[in-house]
Amino acid sequence: MVTASAPGKVYLFGEHAVVYGEPAVPCAIDRRARVTVEERDDDHLRVHAEDLSLDGFTVEYGGRTDANPDVDVSQSLVEAATGYVDAAVAQARDAADAPRAGFDITVESEIPLGAGLGSSAAVTAAGILAATRELGADLSATEVADRAYQAELAVQEGNASRADTFCSATGGAVRVEGDDCRSLDAPELPFVIGFDGGAGDTGALVAGVRELKDEYDFAADTVAAIGDLVRNGEAALGAGDVAELGQLMDFNHGLLSALGVSARSLDSMVWAARDAGALGAKLTGAGGGGCVVALDESEETETALRYLPGCEETFRAELDIQGVRVE
Ligand code: MEV
Repeated sequence: MVTASAPGKVYLFGEHAVVYGEPAVPCAIDRRARVTVEERDDDHLRVHAEDLSLDGFTVEYGGRTDANPDVDVSQSLVEAATGYVDAAVAQARDAADAPRAGFDITVESEIPLGAGLGSSAAVTAAGILAATRELGADLSATEVADRAYQAELAVQEGNASRADTFCSATGGAVRVEGDDCRSLDAPELPFVIGFDGGAGDTGALVAGVRELKDEYDFAADTVAAIGDLVRNGEAALGAGDVAELGQLMDFNHGLLSALGVSARSLDSMVWAARDAGALGAKLTGAGGGGCVVALDESEETETALRYLPGCEETFRAELDIQGVRVE
């Protein structure tokens, strides 16, 4: 039996635009997904999943990803929770040259599903490392990143960048532009996260931005403007200028709103954070619902979010320099 974990992340800048080759800067945070894997003596998968937004359920099905699990929760929830696990298992079977390996898998996550904190990338990266190790093979963090990206591409039907998976596999602050993925030095960043209790459908949101961009020049210009802003953000990060980072996060949120991926709940958390004196605030991840990230050293933003109707949970987070690891 092997347990591996990987961190969630917030986007300082650049989600969505990164899908079209612009740079993005996600940062791993100290909330992790843990995946425990035990090989079975048949080729079936049994998945038990729990996270902040799921009370927990178990599904068992044959080793083929098109099998229909028989469980008493909505099919879309099951698909969301197991799709990435299936894709991670496929990668591990391939890496260890064990195409018929079956597993009992337990997923425990401190990151809500589909809420912009990178739960799918963290589960995928941790699942690939745990299952590969259970089969007696080993992968480096960058090999896990690459395989996790292939897994996300399969689940999201080609709509994925390397940003989430590289960040989760290597930890820390990273910069991703197309296939170019590297680690960045970052100052201490006082992250405050607000969660509306909901989730967005990453595939549908990415597809929506793609359609907008194909139809309207303003949307293509907005994607390019996000790229410019990320380059300014990198300079601010290098200079340790947290006030400038905050201002650029505010701009980034406005540009994401123009692309149609914000939501009333996300906007109201962003404005509550700004009114409380945060240096900046924006949605993080695909949007549509889920989480915002603000920068505030004081307690004010956390307090404001705690009392904001529509904000279900708020917490501080720190940069986590530990990527995927065996526990
Ligand atoms: C989702 O966490 C981030 C997006 O940019 C999609 C991706 O990069 O794969 C919206």
